[in-house]
Amino acid sequence: MSRFPAYRPRRLRRSEALRRLVRETRVVTEQLVQPLFVVPGDGVERAVESMPGVAQRSVDRTAEECRRLADVGVPAVLLFGIPEEKDARGRGATDPGGIIPRALHAVRRATPGLVLITDVCLCEYTDHGHCGVVREGDVDNDATLELLAAEALAHARAGADVIAPSDMMDGRVGAIRGALDAAGFSHLPIMSYAAKFASALYGPFRDAAESTPAFGDRRSYQMDPANAEEALREVALDVEEGADVVMVKPALPYLDVVRRVKERFGYPVAAYQVSGEYAMVKAAAARGWLDEARVVDESLLAIKRAGADVIITYFAKDVAARRRA
Ligand code: PBG
Ligand code: ZN
Repeated sequence: MSRFPAYRPRRLRRSEALRRLVRETRVVTEQLVQPLFVVPGDGVERAVESMPGVAQRSVDRTAEECRRLADVGVPAVLLFGIPEEKDARGRGATDPGGIIPRALHAVRRATPGLVLITDVCLCEYTDHGHCGVVREGDVDNDATLELLAAEALAHARAGADVIAPSDMMDGRVGAIRGALDAAGFSHLPIMSYAAKFASALYGPFRDAAESTPAFGDRRSYQMDPANAEEALREVALDVEEGADVVMVKPALPYLDVVRRVKERFGYPVAAYQVSGEYAMVKAAAARGWLDEARVVDESLLAIKRAGADVIITYFAKDVAARRRA
């Protein structure tokens, strides 16, 4: 490698056009996913206090929002459903006439080309808020698998394009893959939340999804934030069981994991910029302490540079609209 003074890196930083010419990483709207929260009712649009700019919407309003997203070029949404009623087994999750199947039909009609990804988990549907069925104070892994498979099937039958299990039970990707294949959905991809850490950054999401655990926490199923080697084992399991896209979550504090997953597996990698990452930027920007647009662009760029393909972010619509303008 040449040295100073033969090599002067500043030469290529002299104008924006030059900088653009040699830029290594680009964030493209085509790889952004907007999460949405669907609630019962009609004409409902309720702001989520801890996530300024994010709302819970009824099915009709969700369809309208999807039209706006498609108009600015957002290619995909990740749907979370909040049911009419919650119970111990999360029955609303497997109901073929439940909130997500209804949303899928309405959104498909409104925006036929939008990629519809559905979050598969029980925590929005259980009265205790855990991601599986609880037996003697603990989440029962194997008893949860059949419910997750049934939930995925309900979404598949209602027209989901991608199934995204976020529960972190062992063996869920295999269970879901098997159920989908047996029912004629072998073409349907699974985007698994493969390395999902037990993070303090999910707080605002639990307001939006009304899924805060009534007792305990999720550390017996989500990963210890200290573990990167284990994250690679988790991803290996999901890949073996049939995952098509593997996700790392949260995003910015776990970019080392994103990079290692990309290098080790060469699979499509998704990174989820979670609710707490969103809320921190929003809160600082509201006080005039940070320039929101610049911080958002820089954070998405960093996620891409680390090796992510798909980025799930609550900023997707804003970013897409800004680029359109
Ligand atoms: C639940 C789920 C969570 C998120 C997506 N699916 C949070 C949790 O484990 O409580 C987090 C998303 C976010 O914080 O934006 N299975
Ligand atoms: Zn969950």
